[in-house]
Amino acid sequence: MSNVLEPTPKEFRAVMERVLDFSETVLARGAGARASDSSRIDEMLTRLDEKEPARADLDELLTTLAAAAATGSDHLHPGFLAYVPIAGAPVSAVADYLAALLNPYVGVQWDSPAMVQLEWNALRWMSRLFGYPEQARGVFTSGGSLANFTAVVTARHARLGNNYAQGRIFMSDQTHHSIERAALISGVKPECIVTVPSDANLRLDVGALDEALTDAGTSDEPPFLVIANAGTTNTGAVDPIQEIVDLAHRHGAWVHVDGAYGGVFVLTQHGRRILQGIDQADSITLDPHKGFFLSMGLGCVLVKEGAAMRAAYMAEAAYLSPADDTSSLPNFADYSLELTRPFRGLRLWLALKLYGWEPFAQALETNRSLAVRLHQHLSEDPRFDVPWKPDLSTVAFRLRDRDDAATLRLMKAINQRGRVLLSSTTIGGRSYIRACFLSHRSSDATLDNLLADIRECLAT
Ligand SMILES: Cc1ncc(COP(=O)(O)O)c(C=O)c1O
Repeated sequence: MSNVLEPTPKEFRAVMERVLDFSETVLARGAGARASDSSRIDEMLTRLDEKEPARADLDELLTTLAAAAATGSDHLHPGFLAYVPIAGAPVSAVADYLAALLNPYVGVQWDSPAMVQLEWNALRWMSRLFGYPEQARGVFTSGGSLANFTAVVTARHARLGNNYAQGRIFMSDQTHHSIERAALISGVKPECIVTVPSDANLRLDVGALDEALTDAGTSDEPPFLVIANAGTTNTGAVDPIQEIVDLAHRHGAWVHVDGAYGGVFVLTQHGRRILQGIDQADSITLDPHKGFFLSMGLGCVLVKEGAAMRAAYMAEAAYLSPADDTSSLPNFADYSLELTRPFRGLRLWLALKLYGWEPFAQALETNRSLAVRLHQHLSEDPRFDVPWKPDLSTVAFRLRDRDDAATLRLMKAINQRGRVLLSSTTIGGRSYIRACFLSHRSSDATLDNLLADIRECLAT
């Protein structure tokens, strides 16, 4: 009897042919499908809920997957403008398939050195993109939250050693909650997490930061870390990175740039201008699953002085003794909490080797221009408040002189039409609708649909 866990190459090809048929249907969906569908969620959940795995063949399972995928949000849809989109370019699926098929271990260089070299190449390309020196190091993570956590722990170790409850961290009130979570989980006292107000553009107020750092400088808990946002989640605001770096370094603090959303805009001319100073930050979070349009599961953290990162994470283990550890390649396991890790870097390596930087830069330009045009349209319409010009590719708006409920009703009505999916947030105590353009599939048609849906929903 053949081993079902180890199909013959011929049997495996038959499986993959079915998977490829499925892929073709998924990719053919395009803008014709809905950006979200919540109409049959309860029915679907009841259908899928099973206490034990009832056996089924691949065809049945692919049919189930297709039905499940048609429920809820469709992240592959060009009109997905909610949260910070993660568009899922098909190259990610190819890379993940190859990584899983080959199954190399890239946590230490001596196990699969050539595969480590490929992942290290992808990391170095990112590092060079941000003007980091040769001694910079980094790791690919599951996403921005883990990248932020990895950086916070590195900064804490570099600046505070083992007295890690005795330092303060500073961030604007627009900072992603993963930073606060990282600080608390890594042992920073709640009262040492200092929120600095943002200015009228929702960028960190450097004057307020200066005062807060000066106050803290004379306390028992001096500043050890300042966060600069390269694209806030709410509105895509980019903090004045250069000024923050200059100020924080004068106070001896580490600067971490959360560029999960906006870091990759450095590929564009506009981005290079507003991200000025990012090369002087001590660490940077990036999220290739956002700005490189890959599938969920690829974040990245870069640390300028790689030795500081290794010092924070390095631990000895007898069973890991290398036969030969003279290689110049990094052991990624020494630079993060993960020991066993997937070969994540292959996604970026494959995408950049196949396509180069240009298509990503172009798609980012397109997304920014869609946001700028949306902002312009809504600003000219007296029914809307559109307070913040987009630094990147997000527009937040609300109905003028109406309550929050009216704004949220408008969003719901737009979303129900299924051509776009928007999300909401609260800024300064008021509800706003957000449209975040960050997909290589979004185009003029996406903006036209959004504007038409807004117009028609307001008319009814
Ligand atoms: C600015 C910012 N930082 C960090 C994160 C967290 O990234 P992830 O969801 O990949 O963990 C996000 C997510 O949207 C974000 O927008």
